Amino acid sequence: MRVTVFGTGYVGLVTGTCLAEVGHQVTCVDIDQAKVDGLNRGVVPIFEPGLEDMVLANHGAGRLAFTTDAAQAIAHGDVLFIAVGTPPDEDGSADLQYVLAVARTIGRHLSRPAIVVNKSTVPVGTADKVRAAIAAELSARGAEIAFEVVSNPEFLKEGAAVNDCMRPDRIVLGSRSAQAVETMKRLYAPFNRNHDRIVVMDERSAELTKYAANAMLATKISFMNEMANIAERVGADIEMVRHGIGSDPRIGYHFIYPGAGYGGSCFPKDVQALGRIARQAGYEAKLLGAVEAVNTAQKDKLFALAERHFAGDLRGRTFAVWGLAFKPNTDDMREASSRRLLELLWNAGATVRAHDPEAMHEATRIFGTRPDLVLCDTPAQALEGADALFVVTEWKAFWSPDFAALKAALKAGVVFDGRNVYDPAQVEAAGLAYYGIGRGRSL
Ligand code: UGA
Repeated sequence: MRVTVFGTGYVGLVTGTCLAEVGHQVTCVDIDQAKVDGLNRGVVPIFEPGLEDMVLANHGAGRLAFTTDAAQAIAHGDVLFIAVGTPPDEDGSADLQYVLAVARTIGRHLSRPAIVVNKSTVPVGTADKVRAAIAAELSARGAEIAFEVVSNPEFLKEGAAVNDCMRPDRIVLGSRSAQAVETMKRLYAPFNRNHDRIVVMDERSAELTKYAANAMLATKISFMNEMANIAERVGADIEMVRHGIGSDPRIGYHFIYPGAGYGGSCFPKDVQALGRIARQAGYEAKLLGAVEAVNTAQKDKLFALAERHFAGDLRGRTFAVWGLAFKPNTDDMREASSRRLLELLWNAGATVRAHDPEAMHEATRIFGTRPDLVLCDTPAQALEGADALFVVTEWKAFWSPDFAALKAALKAGVVFDGRNVYDPAQVEAAGLAYYGIGRGRSL
């Protein structure tokens, strides 16, 4: 089938590439000429395992094209995906300007019937707005062309996006048109083998499903961080508690890892946006506000532990930071807990020596050069001259360090483990002080 994807960010690029991979003819369109030129030369602007090879292969095979020419891209596709960003507005609601701009562009250029698929995370009711925007442009030029709108939210995780897209848990299709649903089923048939993963519903339910999924996952994390804060005050170890409750299949082991708070482009934004959607509908979502508040406080946690350990005297100290990305296997630092930690350390007059396996370019882009930040090529370099170590992102490369070498390198001999990756006894056996999240040792 012939597919057009608007937006070559995470969602658009991964979706377009995976659709090409299964044999569809895909044109991805973006307004950023430099990005499109780069993609046409095989330069993938994001770090996502497996993506680059797949882009190169499908581009080379002529199934995946990149352009800034929206008119040509609209002429190409029978199915037109909208996968552009919905950044938070000042009040926390999702900003629809890019989604609606694409809808208007589609309305201006559409020359034959098509299905318009919304993949961006959008407030409930957006399908109606997209439909209205397209219809208004069509009628402005006196065109009578049939089109359908489908709400098809994306559930991929950064760092595992290609796999999530190729092997989805579910494919949610929200539409009032049975015919559009049938076309979408054909499009997704290669991803829907063995058992049926397609869930068909109305547009609004599909839009809310996306927010509900992310809000539920964020709630699990904030719940565990709250338990961790209780555990450390009562002398319990949250890691034991995690095992104890995760073994109940009704609770499950996923997304119950306590830590230095959740980040990324989705959870913080979507929890806020859902709260806003509820408020606009006349309902104050109490739980969502608490989920956000717990997470905001949790991002201060590592700094608070250090402040306590050093009795408030951080000025002039040097700290090694392992991990800047908001989670492993990505170079993305949006809303990352590391950013809050660095800000607090700098405000307290400390210097940071940081290493991340993938996010060094991103860190340079965000922070520029400053005297209180040294970006280091290796984890070992980050330790040089440092008083203590913070582990902020649980990259595999940080999981089994040589603790004797850590002890020799760290002047004050302290490890602040923001993701509970270490066994406290092992760290302490090397003569280091250990602080984790909710491990009853921070009393
Ligand atoms: C999230 C969802 O997991 C995806 O299903 C969704 O499609 C995506 O948002 C989106 O809306 O686009 P993502 O933001 O890539 O995916 O990352 P996650 O793996 O969900 O992690 C989010 C944050 O939660 C990270 O900072 C991670 O460190 C933290 N986390 C995760 C915890 O603190 N504890 C956990 O147990 C799990």
